[in-house]
Amino acid sequence: MTNLVPGTKLVIEEKVMINIGVLASGRGTNLQAIIEAVKEGKIEGQISIVISDNQDAFALKRAEQHNIETRYINFKEFKEREEYDREIIKTLKEKKVDLVVLAGYMRILSSFFINVYKNKIINIHPALLPSFPGLRAQKQVVEYGVKVSGCTVHFVDEGVDSGPIILQKAVEVSDDDTEESLAEKILKEEHQIYPQAIQLFSEGRLIIKGRKVFIKKRSI
Ligand code: GRF
Repeated sequence: MTNLVPGTKLVIEEKVMINIGVLASGRGTNLQAIIEAVKEGKIEGQISIVISDNQDAFALKRAEQHNIETRYINFKEFKEREEYDREIIKTLKEKKVDLVVLAGYMRILSSFFINVYKNKIINIHPALLPSFPGLRAQKQVVEYGVKVSGCTVHFVDEGVDSGPIILQKAVEVSDDDTEESLAEKILKEEHQIYPQAIQLFSEGRLIIKGRKVFIKKRSI
């Protein structure tokens, strides 16, 4: 309880709660980590919608279990990528989404989509970019024989896994690691840094200058 001297104004700091839209095609463990971070108050925001291009994506079930609105959009109903993306954008706009989070979303976004949500789309990649972009990064890593890999959260631009880097976390690659065992190790770190990056965005602390992302110190 606050004891106020009469006439003193109580200034309560207003927290901005961003609306998050998640795009996911698969099992959705990153989505799960984000759902939990929101519940625990580690992210000042709410997941307003989860959209999938895959009707059977377990990500959709996870969202439903937490009473989060979902939408499956079948790309076969659209002639071109941009047309499909326009339908997604329509849904995101209806939900007033501030940040688009790609969580295992397996479709390439059109330039149109990237420009509508410029610097408001983020992705997580299971390698230390710019090394090993593209599909099956963990397999590429194991086959190449590097000793350290990890994960990267980055803004999405028009290239493949090439946008400005927000956060990275390294893991050691052991001699006996397989694609699967490495993926599992990396995934644990993904579940930590993805919610952290979303919270930094929500706090307005990510400043993009050219290729670089600067993280502003928290204002007191
Ligand atoms: C993760 O490895 C992520 O890095 C990549 O796709 C995978 C998605 O996994 N972009 P999940 O669906 O979040 O479990």
